[in-house]
Amino acid sequence: MIVLGVESSCDETGIALHDSQRGLLAHALHSQVAMHEEYGGVVPELASRDHIRRAIPLLEQVLQQSGLPRSAIDAIAYTQGPGLAGALLVGASIACGLGLALDRPVLGIHHLEGHLLSPLLASDPPEFPFVALLISGGHTQLMRVDGVGQYTLLGETLDDAAGEAFDKSAKLLGLGYPGGPAISRLAEFGDPGVYKLPRPMLHSKDLNFSFSGLKTAVLTVVKNQITNICEQDKANVARSFVDAIVDVLVAKCLTALKQTGLKRLVIAGGVGANRQLREALNAAAEKKRFKVFYPELEFCTDNGAMIAFAGAMRLQINPDAAKRDYAFNVRPRWPLDELRAV
Ligand code: KG4
Ligand code: ZN
Repeated sequence: MIVLGVESSCDETGIALHDSQRGLLAHALHSQVAMHEEYGGVVPELASRDHIRRAIPLLEQVLQQSGLPRSAIDAIAYTQGPGLAGALLVGASIACGLGLALDRPVLGIHHLEGHLLSPLLASDPPEFPFVALLISGGHTQLMRVDGVGQYTLLGETLDDAAGEAFDKSAKLLGLGYPGGPAISRLAEFGDPGVYKLPRPMLHSKDLNFSFSGLKTAVLTVVKNQITNICEQDKANVARSFVDAIVDVLVAKCLTALKQTGLKRLVIAGGVGANRQLREALNAAAEKKRFKVFYPELEFCTDNGAMIAFAGAMRLQINPDAAKRDYAFNVRPRWPLDELRAV
């Protein structure tokens, strides 16, 4: 079965074709980062308009890459939520319009389920059950994953998401948008321990997170030095910030593994691309004897492949999960634990 995936929940238009026999056939992505950069963050209306411009050319691109005609598509999976309402509506209308035109069934996918299952696209995929740390721009959650649609929330952030903390702190250091990769690169040049930044909720017994205090601590440091913060100081702040956030993320993962008794940890979402986090998790995995799985780097951040794949997984369990019902709605707010195995 060939599933077309359509992702448009935020500032990336992603289109992909997945074949249940042969795996991922083709995928194409357009990032709007350059367009939003001058505003210091995503402008929702601009995002929606750009998705409209990009989706069909990207579709043509994946069809060409795969050498398949449109008629080869058996079902269409699209991101139904959570995300920006207008951006989601573009993807949903394109998926449903295409479904109607081709007489193919359509299926709405939860964006975070796409992230969660994306490590299964890798060459050494994890088996169920596993603990998953979902760390994206809008979410920070620890989940127990027993199968497709079987997600139990173990803990989540009480305020800012990890990606948001990266982006906001990077902005305070004048690093532009999105700040995650930039602050991570700058931290490589920083000395550890110059700034004592908090590790929020590190010793709380639960699996929740809180990152807004960490961002405020970065603000305080930057404010105190506003007149003469030099490049080395910036790198030192970046290093202390990354060390603090990585310490908390790793500690909570270890607690989640201990509490569940599981030995497999999956990292998903944009912050999962972070180099320092991967190094710390790999070291912890070796020491504590668990296995850690990541998506391919290109599938850490938003993409169409994870949506096509999540659609294919759902259709494998229930071939009737996709419907010839083209009256779509989107769900900008949609808790992941509301999802059920189809
Ligand atoms: O999963 P994602 O692409 O989009 C959402 O669903 O939100 O995640 C985007 C987030 C942004 O906050 C971005 O700064 C962060 O992931 N990010 C990183 C890195 N690459 C992306 N954060 C830290 N280090 C990175 N290398
Ligand atoms: Zn995402």
